[in-house]
Amino acid sequence: MPTNSEKRYIPGLEGVVAAETRLSSVDGQKGELLIAGFPVEALAANASHEEVAYLLWHGDLPSPSQLADFRQALAARRSLPPATHALLRAAAAEKIPAMDALRMAAGTLNLDAGENLPFTLLARAPLAVTAYWRLRHGREPVAPDPDLGQAANYLYTLTGERPPAARVRALETYLNTVGDHGLNASTFTARTIISTGSDLVSAVAGAIGALKGPRHGGAPGPALQTVFEIGTIDNAEPVLRHKLEAGARLMGFGHRVYKVRDPRAELLSAAAAGLYRSGDAAQGGMPLYELAAHVEKVAVALLEEFKPGRKLQTNVEFYTALLLHGVGLDPDLFAPTFASGRLAGWIGHCLEQQSNNRLIRPQSVYVGERDRQWQPLDQR
Ligand code: COA
Repeated sequence: MPTNSEKRYIPGLEGVVAAETRLSSVDGQKGELLIAGFPVEALAANASHEEVAYLLWHGDLPSPSQLADFRQALAARRSLPPATHALLRAAAAEKIPAMDALRMAAGTLNLDAGENLPFTLLARAPLAVTAYWRLRHGREPVAPDPDLGQAANYLYTLTGERPPAARVRALETYLNTVGDHGLNASTFTARTIISTGSDLVSAVAGAIGALKGPRHGGAPGPALQTVFEIGTIDNAEPVLRHKLEAGARLMGFGHRVYKVRDPRAELLSAAAAGLYRSGDAAQGGMPLYELAAHVEKVAVALLEEFKPGRKLQTNVEFYTALLLHGVGLDPDLFAPTFASGRLAGWIGHCLEQQSNNRLIRPQSVYVGERDRQWQPLDQR
């Protein structure tokens, strides 16, 4: 064990390896993301979200009967405990952000859960988001449809209407794209919590809290706002330049690991273009897509001008915003929808950590004073 003076502090744990995982591999130099050995590009637009969750939890793609059982296990648990509804109703009365409502609700999702908490959490957490959204807008929650899968039920329980196939596919591609991503901050949080011998609900609630911040999962709302603020192609350069001159960060750009364009940006850009072109987008259209594509180009060029050599490229959040807008979601739903996709990865990581656990307990370097003298209160 090193002494205090021998310890070396690595801010943000950058480059520190804190886990072994079979779930996903992120290569930030090549711009490559593997999900359990598959390039994310092979899975995202082809697989159902249930198949990706199965893959993350079991290490292999399911057979047809395994998939049917998996879907059935989720459908059987896709309802919220009355106490969760009551909590969401109280939160809706306060109009709190949807991500906070999800974090609060997460702690109640194991009520009446019975066996098999991974399925219960995967089935219920997205439902808490959609039920909250309806309550916040003065509508009653909609019961899920047992014939629909994870992605379709998300939209169905949000709108109360059977969603068009193109919107379901777009959302499913998104959920698969964000299903897992190495040892990001929320996944690390979940693994740390579970490593103490704590439970899955606590790990997921902690992960939701970590995902909320704008340096992790909270960026797509502001990214879309910027595109709307820019409004027309001619405005992109002056508006973005002004933001950078004022020292602001451009949301949807930069990444701790990727030093080239995030491969998920490419996937989500293609999915957004497909949705807008199909004519089935709930809102927005090709002109919005083209504006965003132009904003991206200008932003990357300006980031190179303002932060030369930093290699600040488009990250997952920029096209997340555009895609989820087309799916019909309000920006306040972007982060909880991200959480609904990342849930499969969080749970998979917790199961992996539990299967070969060692308490995660790093150290700190003490940089405070020493040899101080105690002074009684009346002498300070
Ligand atoms: N816009 C403008 N400048 C940025 C930037 C951005 N999006 N991202 C990083 N930078 C700058 C920082 O200001 C810093 O510059 P400086 O050294 O001159 O002070 C430099 O690049 C390095 O930034 P740092 O915060 O150390 O990098 P990081 O590895 O911690 O950052 C993010 C990763 C994601 C937190 C960061 O890029 C960011 O804040 N992006 C915007 C938010 C976002 O899109 N989040 C979603 C992530 S998937």
